[in-house]
Amino acid sequence: MAKTSISASITVKDNTDIAKVVLMPGDPLRAKHVADHYLENPVCFNTIRNMLGYTGTYRGKKISVMGSGMGIPSLGIYATELYNQFDVDAIIRIGSAGGLSDKVKVRDVVIAMAASTNSSYGDAYGIPGQLAAAADYGMLADSVAAAKELKVNAVVGNVYSSDFFYYPQSDLNQKLRDFGHLAVEMEAAGLYWTAAACHKKALSILTISDHIFTGEALSAEERQNSFHDMMKVALETAWH
Ligand code: ADE
Repeated sequence: MAKTSISASITVKDNTDIAKVVLMPGDPLRAKHVADHYLENPVCFNTIRNMLGYTGTYRGKKISVMGSGMGIPSLGIYATELYNQFDVDAIIRIGSAGGLSDKVKVRDVVIAMAASTNSSYGDAYGIPGQLAAAADYGMLADSVAAAKELKVNAVVGNVYSSDFFYYPQSDLNQKLRDFGHLAVEMEAAGLYWTAAACHKKALSILTISDHIFTGEALSAEERQNSFHDMMKVALETAWH
């Protein structure tokens, strides 16, 4: 639906609709890349703070893509506005993550079933103890089926959403690995909490860009190729 100037951070331009499903990379220029290379007839709907958002079609279905910025507070603003003010039903985060587990290597696609976090963002909801940050099961199942069909090596499991990229405590990664986390990133838990709070759906699909224990990292070209695998899985999940 097209609404203008009703939200703090998204202003829909020229009556462009936002689709029911939105893909969310962290980087707004990645959103532009996705719009230019994966969507047909993309139209830009948001330029506020350069947090670019586009709506186009994929295999005949209307799909939007918009940046989230880095970290839970930034993603929380955009996801809340998309869900509550623009009638978005589902958000699929598409991002990168640092590998923790032996089960993942660089280039692999990780589908985040649930996210632990050191963020206190969820405290604001007032639920005693730890509020579960979990993916929508239907979207998770669709993405697993899509990965299988596309012959993409996707690993399903838990990730850790950190408020820190440069974490001062050096033994945390080993503990996270011991508890079975596949990878560390910075947004999934916030997206899952926001979806729960808004009674909407969410999934995070990630590409392992570096591995914290093996020291492996992707070159720029390799990053682009593995990004393509994640995109195919995300688009097919969004199309469903
Ligand atoms: N995204 C990609 N690599 C990461 C890392 N090592 N920590 C947090 N987020 C990341």
